[in-house]
Formats: sequence, structure tokens, C-alpha cells
Amino acid sequence: MRIAIIGTGYVGLTTGACLAAIGHEVTCLDNNAAKIETLRQGKVPIFEPFIEEILEEAKDRMRFTQSYAEAIPGSDVVFIAVGTPSMADGSPDLRYLREAAAAIGEHLGGGFTVVVNKSTVPIGSGNWVESLIRESRGGRNGKVEFAVASNPEFLREGSALQDSLYPDRIVVGTDSPRAVDVLSNLYRPILEQSFTAPSYLKRPEGMAAAPLVTTDLASAELIKYAANSFLALKISYINEIGRLAEKVGADVTLVAKGMGLDARIGTRFLQAGLGWGGSCFAKDTAALVATAADYGLGMPIVSAARTVNQQQRERVVEKLLGELKIIKGKTVGLLGLAFKPNTDDLRDAPSLDIARALVARGVSVAAFDPVAMERAKSEWAGVSVKYCETAEQVAEGADAVVLVTEWAEFQDLDWEAMAKSARSPFVLDGRLFLDAARLAKAGWRCARI
Ligand SMILES: NC(=O)c1ccc[n+]([C@@H]2O[C@H](COP(=O)([O-])OP(=O)(O)OC[C@H]3O[C@@H](n4cnc5c(N)ncnc54)[C@H](O)[C@@H]3O)[C@@H](O)[C@H]2O)c1
Repeated sequence: MRIAIIGTGYVGLTTGACLAAIGHEVTCLDNNAAKIETLRQGKVPIFEPFIEEILEEAKDRMRFTQSYAEAIPGSDVVFIAVGTPSMADGSPDLRYLREAAAAIGEHLGGGFTVVVNKSTVPIGSGNWVESLIRESRGGRNGKVEFAVASNPEFLREGSALQDSLYPDRIVVGTDSPRAVDVLSNLYRPILEQSFTAPSYLKRPEGMAAAPLVTTDLASAELIKYAANSFLALKISYINEIGRLAEKVGADVTLVAKGMGLDARIGTRFLQAGLGWGGSCFAKDTAALVATAADYGLGMPIVSAARTVNQQQRERVVEKLLGELKIIKGKTVGLLGLAFKPNTDDLRDAPSLDIARALVARGVSVAAFDPVAMERAKSEWAGVSVKYCETAEQVAEGADAVVLVTEWAEFQDLDWEAMAKSARSPFVLDGRLFLDAARLAKAGWRCARI
């Protein structure tokens, strides 16, 4: 099938690469000229494990363009994967969606096209996109047939390709049976797991199929927000338990293990620490609360999860004050900047709030991240951070080191040498990730968030 993808970011590029890898002809469109040029040169603008490999494998079936006239006419399916960031009141900024829908409308050609919202969009956006497309066509609706569907994306950055090829489920919401047929055909190799698994992305053992959940538009849109908010509150729940565990002398990691092995609860998203970050949880929980407010409803559970998450970040300064007493004029090293390992994404990363809070209190901040340094230098131009060349350098002359992102390699640093180079070898483990006994042996005083 011929596919166009509007927005070639983390979601658009992953979706495009996976659809091309299973045999479709894919045109990825973005209005960011630099991004398209990078991709045309065979380079990848994001960090995501195995993205280079899959793009190389699928390159004969992939094109990159800035031109709607090139991408849209003749496409069977047009995915919208543009960003939907939060506005100040928590509601999503839909300007990119509006622009994309209008441009799609202007360029739809003959034949039946399914326009799919893959971006996370508020409930009602499917109908809105349909009306925008009709509006932008003016009086030219005559020969064009299209339907709008919602196909929310559940990938996790860092394992985006694995999640796209081997999903727990695919959700399609639409009022058009014809669109369901088109999208079932599009996803058939994934639904039936009939494609040849790439050697670097093995099919999970025992996986024979992925379920397709078909719904109306509004239900599909709500599924995405409800799922993300639930995962977010699971994290905040264990962090709330973690605070009590600290007071009563319990170990929250053991509590999480004992809870999570109950199949009704599950171990995932029960890791205590600095809490969630990234492009989705903060914005999607805020959007859910804002949507509910439009209907006169409060969302007290989701709102509380947001508050707990913000407080986890503030605990870094509290814990450093508890240990160092005075932090003004001191030096703190941050290990990790990305909001989680295996991505270079800095959107809503706890590291930024932490760095800002420390700088505001007169602390010198040094930092290192294996992949997100260049992005930080360009995106955080106003934040005064010294970027180190190695993780070990973060400890040099430091009064404290904070582990912010649980990159696997941070466990194997030369912690003995780092303790010697630190002014005061104190480490605050923000992810309950480091081996405290080993660190203590290496000369560090250790605390957990
Ligand atoms: N990143 C994730 O992990 C993830 C997971 C699930 C869902 N989502 C949702 O998917 C959507 C996209 O997220 P992302 O992380 O890929 O965002 P992103 O910012 O990485 O990518 C969005 C891209 O859209 C482009 N764009 C904006 N307006 C455009 C237009 N009018 N025409 C063409 N291109 C345009 C931007 O230049 C950018 O490259 C969001 O709604 C997000 O909530 C993201």
C-alpha cells in the first residue's frame, strides 16, 4: 500500500520505517527542512536503538519530502504524526494538527484515502480533522472520498521499533467500516505476525498475533489518554509508597517487587525514583484533566499523580540540603540528562527542572549524558550547565553527584577513582539503580531519592 506520514519525529519516523520494513511504500513528510535533508543523506535525526538498521533495510521503499503535493495524492493511508505539545493551561496545542489537516485536504487526490490521527489528540479531534479537510477543499469535495480514523500510538522511546513491530494491541477507532478494512490490511503482517523478523529485533517468544481493537473515534482517542494516565499514576503511586517506606524503614524496591509479582498489578511502571518525564505523560495527563474540566468534571486521581511527580523532582534539592546543609556555592554533578535511558529526548526531562532549581540556588552544575549532550547544548541554551566529556568528569570537584538517568553504563563507572576526584563523595541515586554496597566500598556516601 502507499502510505504518507505527516511529521517525521520519534513517532512518524518509527512508524514509517516499520511500515516500509513490512512491505509498504512510505513517504515521510516534515516541514522541518533540516530534518528532511538529514534523512535524505541517510542520517538519523534522533537516537533510537536499531533505527539506522531498519531504515537501511527499508530504504528502497522510503522517501523523505517537505512537499504535500508529492506525499498525499495517490496515498491509501495518510498518518498524521505531528507534535501536540501542552499549552500553558494544560490543553494540547493543536496548531500543527490544524496545519497538517488543512494541507492534506488541499492535496487529497482521487481514490479512497484513510486519514489517520496517530498523534495523541483530544477527544473529538477525529471529527475536527474531518471538518478541516472538508473546509480546506472548499467546493472541490466532489470526487474525493476519505474517512478519518484514530490509531493511537503506544510505543516507548528506547524500544520504539520493538513496540511497533510487536505491539500488545493495535487500536483503530473510526465510524467507517471501509477504513477498518484498509487499516486491517495495512497492519495485517503485524496483526498476524507474518513478516520476517529482522535479526536485530527478534520476535518475542510465543508471539503469534497482535490483537486489533476496533472502536468508535472517541473511544480510541480516550484509550490513549486513559492508558498513559494509568501508567503515570502507577509510577506516582510507588513514589508515594516510597516516601512512606523511607519513614518506616522499609525498602521500596522490595515493596514494589512484592506488589508487582501479583499478576493483577504487574511489575512494570513500579520503579520508584525521580518519576516520569518525556513528551507524553505530563502533557497527556494535563490534557485529560483539561478535557474533563471542559465537561465540569474533576480528575482528582490523575491530578494527584501529577503533583506527586513534580514533588519527586523537588526532593533532589531537599535531599542535597539535608546532606550538605548549605548548597550555595557548591558543585553538583548530574549523571544523565535524557528523560530515560536509550533515548536522546529531553522533553520534560527531570534533569532540566533539577538543573534549574540548583542553578537558582547558586549551585554550579556539571552534567554528562551518553547521547543527549548535543541536544541539551542547543535546547537548553539559557541554562548554565557545564557539559563534561566523560561521566567520570562529573564527579571532579563535586560536592554531590545525582544519578538522574539510569543508563546501564553508569553502573560500571570507575567509582573508586571518582570518589577520589570528588570534593565530597556523596551520591544521590535518583533511580534506585546503583549498587549501594559497591559504592560504599568505593568510598561514597549514598542516599536514594
Ligand atoms: N514520542 C513518543 O514516545 C510518543 C508515543 C506515543 C504517542 N506520541 C504522540 O505522537 C505525536 C508526535 O510525537 P513525537 O514525539 O513524534 O513528536 P516530534 O516533535 O518528535 O515530531 C513531530 C514532527 O512533526 C513535524 N511537524 C509539525 N507540524 C508539521 C506540519 N504541519 N507538517 C509536517 N510536519 C510537521 C515537526 O517538525 C516534527 O518533526 C504527539 O502527539 C505525541 O503525543 C508520542
